[in-house]
Amino acid sequence: MRVNAAGTHSGENTLAGRHVLSAEDFSAAEISLVLNTARVLEQDVNGRRDFRRLLQGKTLTTAFFEPSTRTRLSFESAMLRLGGQVSSIQYGRSSSSEKGESLQDMGRVLSGYADVVAMRHPENGSVAAFASTASVPVINAGDGANQHPTQALLDLYTIFREKRRFDGLTIGFIGDLKYSRTVHSLISLLRHYQVTLHFISHPLLALPDSVKGSLADGRQSLQESPELGKALRDLDVLYVTRVQKERFADPLEYEQANRNYQLNRDTLQHSKPDLILMHPLPRLQEIHSELDSDPRAKYFRQAQNGVYVRMALLALLLAQFPPHRAWATD
Ligand code: CP
Repeated sequence: MRVNAAGTHSGENTLAGRHVLSAEDFSAAEISLVLNTARVLEQDVNGRRDFRRLLQGKTLTTAFFEPSTRTRLSFESAMLRLGGQVSSIQYGRSSSSEKGESLQDMGRVLSGYADVVAMRHPENGSVAAFASTASVPVINAGDGANQHPTQALLDLYTIFREKRRFDGLTIGFIGDLKYSRTVHSLISLLRHYQVTLHFISHPLLALPDSVKGSLADGRQSLQESPELGKALRDLDVLYVTRVQKERFADPLEYEQANRNYQLNRDTLQHSKPDLILMHPLPRLQEIHSELDSDPRAKYFRQAQNGVYVRMALLALLLAQFPPHRAWATD
C-alpha cells in the first residue's frame, strides 16, 4: 500500500524540525509521507522490521490541559515503541500554569527539557501561542474547537487502509460539525482529494463557513442535510461525532442542538455493505454498541491506527526516519 501524491517530489522529509499546528499546513506530498511512514512502522510493530531504538535518547513531553485518553496515551505509546522517553503534564494542574505562567514562557522552558512537545489546550490558538516561543517541534493535540491535525492524519490513514483510495469516495459527516476540531482538521486534509462530502447536522451545529471556505478549489462536491436519510445509501465513509457539551457557552443552545441521535443496525440497514463507520471517540449514545461487532465499524481500529501515525510523525519531526530508503509496503 502506498499513497501517491501526483506531481510531488517523493522521499524528501520536509517535516523535519517543523511544528504541527494545523492540518492546513500539510501538502499532499507531506500527507503521503506521513501515511507511508506509518504503514512501514505498523508493519514493524507486527514484527517485520526493527525500529525499537529509532528515537533512543529523545524525549517527548505531553502537556495536556484538557482530558484525553487516546491522543495522550497513543503519543506516549508511540514514543516508547520507538525507544524514546516520555515526560508528562496532565490536566495542567501539576504545572505552573495554575500559578498564572504564560504559554509563551512555558514554550521557552519546556524546549530545554524535551525534543518534541505534544500539547492539548481548551483555547483556540493556544498551542500556536506556546509554539511561538518553543525551539523544538510542537504538535497540536487539540486546541479548543479549532484543530486536531494528528487525529485527521490517523483518520485519513484509516480511510486509506480500508478503502485504498481517496479520490471518488463519498464521505458523510454527522453530529457536531460546528465545534468538532476533528471534523475541521479532516476536512482540511480532504481538500487535496477529489471527494464528495456530505454534511449532516442540526442547523445549530452546521459546519462553519470558514471551514467550508477552505474547500473552495472546486475539486470537492459538497452537500448538506439535516438528516442521514437518503444520503446514507451513497456513503463510502460515515464519520460520526459526539455533540460536545463542553464546547457550548450557552447550555440552552446545547439542549436545543443535542437530539441524542443514535446509529444502530436499523438506521444503517440501507448503507453500502462496505461502508466504513468512523468516530474519533469517546462516544456517548451516538453509535449503539450492537454495531461494535459489525464489519462496518472501524472506530476501534481507527484509535489503534493513532499509534502508527504518531510514531511516523515523531520519527519524521525528529528527522530520524531515513527518507531515502525505498520501503516495500503492501
Ligand atoms: N479522539 C480523541 O482526541 O480522543 P481523546 O480525547 O481521548 O484524546
